[in-house]
Amino acid sequence: MASEESVTIEARLSDRDYLRPIPAFIGQANVTDHRVYDRFDDFPEGFTEYAELLDWEDHWDEVFDGSDPPFFKWFVGGQLNASVNCIDRHLDDRQNQTALLWEGEDGDQRNITYGDLHREVNEMASLLRSIGIEEDDIVTIHLPMVPALPITMLACARIGAPHSVVFAGFSASAVADRMRDADSELLVTIDGYYRRGEFLDHLAKTNAAVDEVEHDPDVLVWSRHDEPATSLRREYTHVQTKLADHRRDRVEPVMRDAEDPLFLMYTSGTTGKPKGCQHRTGGYLAYAAGTSKYVLDIKPGDTYWCAADIGWITGHSYIVYGPLALGTTSVMREGSPDHPHQGIVWEVAERHAVDIFHTSPTAIRMFMKWGEEHLESYEFDFRHLTTVGEPIQPEAWNWYYEHIGHGTAVIVDTWWQTETGGHLITNLPALWDMKPGSAGLPCPGIEPAIVDDAGQSIEGDEAGNLVITRPWPGMLQTVYGDDERFIETYWARFSDIDSDDWQDWTYVSGDGAIKEPDGYYRILGRLDDVMNVAGHRIGTMELESAVVEVPEVAEAAVTARVHEEKGQVPDVYASLRDGIEPDDGIKADIIAAIEAEIGAFARPSRVILVDDLPKTRSGKIMRRLLEDISNDRDLGDTTTLRDPAVPEQIRRQVQGA
Ligand code: WT7
Repeated sequence: MASEESVTIEARLSDRDYLRPIPAFIGQANVTDHRVYDRFDDFPEGFTEYAELLDWEDHWDEVFDGSDPPFFKWFVGGQLNASVNCIDRHLDDRQNQTALLWEGEDGDQRNITYGDLHREVNEMASLLRSIGIEEDDIVTIHLPMVPALPITMLACARIGAPHSVVFAGFSASAVADRMRDADSELLVTIDGYYRRGEFLDHLAKTNAAVDEVEHDPDVLVWSRHDEPATSLRREYTHVQTKLADHRRDRVEPVMRDAEDPLFLMYTSGTTGKPKGCQHRTGGYLAYAAGTSKYVLDIKPGDTYWCAADIGWITGHSYIVYGPLALGTTSVMREGSPDHPHQGIVWEVAERHAVDIFHTSPTAIRMFMKWGEEHLESYEFDFRHLTTVGEPIQPEAWNWYYEHIGHGTAVIVDTWWQTETGGHLITNLPALWDMKPGSAGLPCPGIEPAIVDDAGQSIEGDEAGNLVITRPWPGMLQTVYGDDERFIETYWARFSDIDSDDWQDWTYVSGDGAIKEPDGYYRILGRLDDVMNVAGHRIGTMELESAVVEVPEVAEAAVTARVHEEKGQVPDVYASLRDGIEPDDGIKADIIAAIEAEIGAFARPSRVILVDDLPKTRSGKIMRRLLEDISNDRDLGDTTTLRDPAVPEQIRRQVQGA
């Protein structure tokens, strides 16, 4: 963004829709000079500002190599290790400072200092080595929010073994699919964990996942309590027992090329098969650290709490890698925010004097619904609040600002994706006024555009496809094992895919957005067949493939229904095979199939068994009509359907007369 433009934007910020950060915030912020945008506009050199936040074993020779688009390279020739950057380099200054502050749902608590983290990560790295894990082996981690999770991730990073963390709520089949796709021969898991006061048996999922993959993976099992888990299969290794053999071991960190992968993170797309987004070591870590500093305003002395799960990208970038690279204290908590009581989040915030708090619109809407009385008895004082994952309505934004931020904290609404590694659109908090409902301006160095379906740039403030026209270091390298799919999914639509010039390549986000006259972006949500349930991304095709696994089901279509609290929820429409009568047992089987294939978090809100699905004359299922029905909208024109009576029949079934 040119500086003239910055000035015009500033000049317009007088509208009453805007809220200005308080002077006390601005006075202490990490970035207070608008010229940061000019520096990053010097592409690609600007991004070295983020890379310089890290310790490099070998300096890079070239900042950016765009010669083989869309396989861009960043900080080429540089060498570094992520665990060194997140741990070792802090030891001189903050050996005894808490790195990870963990709260178990059962009241257990651990302060893991940088010194402790160094010891535990080394021991785990040594254990991984001892069972034969080598550089570039992909390690699947299926762990909940316990210290074992970041410790295992950082141990993998130390020995150069990319991790693939699968959110603990995912089913055994989802774990098996991801292990198979990544040829991963080690699964790191746990016996169980707490959620809403219940000790969940995680080992059952482990056993089923191991039975489902064809190869015989090694299995490392942590126990949630220090004593060895009972009932482990003989071939599994109990981590804590085995760690006793590795006390005080030190593992020389493996230096990685900047372009070597740090991790895979699978995410849902428009087909049934999740994509392994592959993130590089140097560019990713630089981008995560840079945005943690500039956007989240993290300083080493802060206590920072991102209440997401490390099993998703938010937790990777903004609980583990970004905050620890900056040497701060990062809070993590096991369990559900309503257990043991609906004020627990604020109790934790008070107990640890949290400065910066990070959550999702779904959580904010939930807190709103629970009511302000749950806040009243706690003294918390945030300087900075983040929201991420879904569009936030001004009403929820204002509530967050007033009741959680006490009208003094800044709020940043951060738009980004699993694929982008870090924030792409959000305000640098001390530089711009806040505007509820708008994610804000592009991050330094990021060049978004809104284009119509033909790829033409939309000038006025009309909705269109949100694309990014210039590469950035945090972007995914590829879809693991499938370069074609990478090109097809993210580039083909608006790029000249025969061109060797990186400027002819445009990244497609899959989201719709509006660029408002002040330059702020309002994100409207997914334009493809991906829904956003409580901030979790779920592909309709994945749900549909799970539903048709039920033998009685002939065909299925899944739609997103707008939901007050969760943003969207899935509705399942299914037709049954000839001669089969609909009954509740089949509905239950459909729900069970989704839980088995994906996980309980993807459970549909309604299952509607229908005689027939609405189809065009050529036999294509008209999901759009079903979506209208799910959302109580009027049905559009149905005359071109094979059987025009079908949608009205379903409408009556769902909405009543
Ligand atoms: C999708 C990405 C990386 C954040 C966690 C989710 C939606 C994300 C916002 C926001 C409106 C948002 C988009 C995006 N999204 N942030 N601030 N405002 N929508 O990561 O699972 O990869 O999902 O979440 O639709 O494409 P994800």
